[in-house]
Amino acid sequence: MEAAAEADLISGLPASFRWGVATSAYQIEGATTADGRGQSIWDTYCRVPGMVDGGDNGDVACDHYHRMPADVELISSLGVDAYRFSVAWPRIQPDGRGPGNAAGLGFYDRLVDELLARGVDPWVTLYHWDLPQRLEDAGGWPARDTAYRFADYAMLVFDALRDRVSTWTTLNEPWCSAMLGYYEGRQAPGRQDFGDAIHAVHHLLLGHGLAAGRMRAAEPSIQLGITLNMGTSTPATDSEADREATRRADGLGVRIYLDPLLRKRYPEDVVADLAARGVRLPVLDGDLEIIGEPIDVLGVNYYSSHQVSGVDDQGRTVGDDGNPVETIVPMGRPVTAMDWEIVPEGFTELLVRLSRDYPGTPMVITENGAAFDDTAATDGVVADADRQAYLSAHLAAVAAARQRGADVRGYFAWSLMDNFEWSYGYAKRFGLVHVDYETQVRTPKQSALWYRDTIRRVRGS
Ligand code: NOJ
Repeated sequence: MEAAAEADLISGLPASFRWGVATSAYQIEGATTADGRGQSIWDTYCRVPGMVDGGDNGDVACDHYHRMPADVELISSLGVDAYRFSVAWPRIQPDGRGPGNAAGLGFYDRLVDELLARGVDPWVTLYHWDLPQRLEDAGGWPARDTAYRFADYAMLVFDALRDRVSTWTTLNEPWCSAMLGYYEGRQAPGRQDFGDAIHAVHHLLLGHGLAAGRMRAAEPSIQLGITLNMGTSTPATDSEADREATRRADGLGVRIYLDPLLRKRYPEDVVADLAARGVRLPVLDGDLEIIGEPIDVLGVNYYSSHQVSGVDDQGRTVGDDGNPVETIVPMGRPVTAMDWEIVPEGFTELLVRLSRDYPGTPMVITENGAAFDDTAATDGVVADADRQAYLSAHLAAVAAARQRGADVRGYFAWSLMDNFEWSYGYAKRFGLVHVDYETQVRTPKQSALWYRDTIRRVRGS
């Protein structure tokens, strides 16, 4: 689509549409031993040689913990309505259990006050991947007890901030926590056991439900949600094998979360696929009722979409591990620095599909954005036309989905500033604002200025 056509579509977004930027604690805060913070699984994982590119870690990151007021000023200068950030569990409960650490809570207390003083609405995410290491030592998310520990932690944060924070997200991208953390091992804690990962899925959802139920009971008027990463999966060809592989990918990527959350049941085909792999979801009586606690908003993180095949490069439909083959077939699109294909229409399709298959739950885009190899800031200018084009195309895709009936009420760009991109370290830059990690100087990129101007234009202010 031409830039002008995108701009037209974006202009059609209503004045009530919410605009924001997003970050997460471990990716920006640094100060990993300050004020009694305990260790998280990411502190541990970063120290395992070979796990993170460049041997990077989050010890300093963007040093946001010490620069918070100036960063809030930066956020406010972008003209956004809201800021989505996460709370670091190990700052609140260094060992993952027990009373709240006042110094840790104090940081978020001040952050919320700074945001409100500048008219920015704080959107709190309770868990963005930094599980206290002690809880991992006790079994991590595959252990049922972790769900109960999460609900206790959630209430400590909720009670401290509920007088000023109205929008609460329990978990960020449980697919990543479970599948990348416990099956593929590409994220902390780096375990590689499919059964553990499926147990983690259920206990993450249970933790969400337990926390959601307790927060709702304490304050019925809150806006409660969960954030999932999703894309559109399409079969590479019309063959039975490719269609089946696509169904399985969608089952473990989308429906295994949304069905229990919004329909109080796991999808039968997914349960059968798991049984064929000798794995069972550890559901106890009453769990699905807890997980199905009504939510007010579904957070959608979108980066890319995939074409799926059920046949490998040797023509086999069953791999060496005895499992059905599921491979991603490139569509030949331009890619970002992450090598992720740029597929804005997959975003529209996803949002329309979600509104059709799971009607009645308003959506907010809690993350969308792209890493590109930005040239270092010179003369205060970072020309990132590729990021601006990505954002424009994806905002237009959201507007197009709204025209087709998808109830999307807001958009958060990922990310406010360059930060620690997990196992990719600092080499991948997603920020609207450039960070010089030597000096910690922040420089808004051209895309940040474009985003600010776009918000103004749509609002008509
Ligand atoms: C999703 C995650 O929530 C965020 O932490 C990450 O940096 C972005 N995707 C980009 O990979």
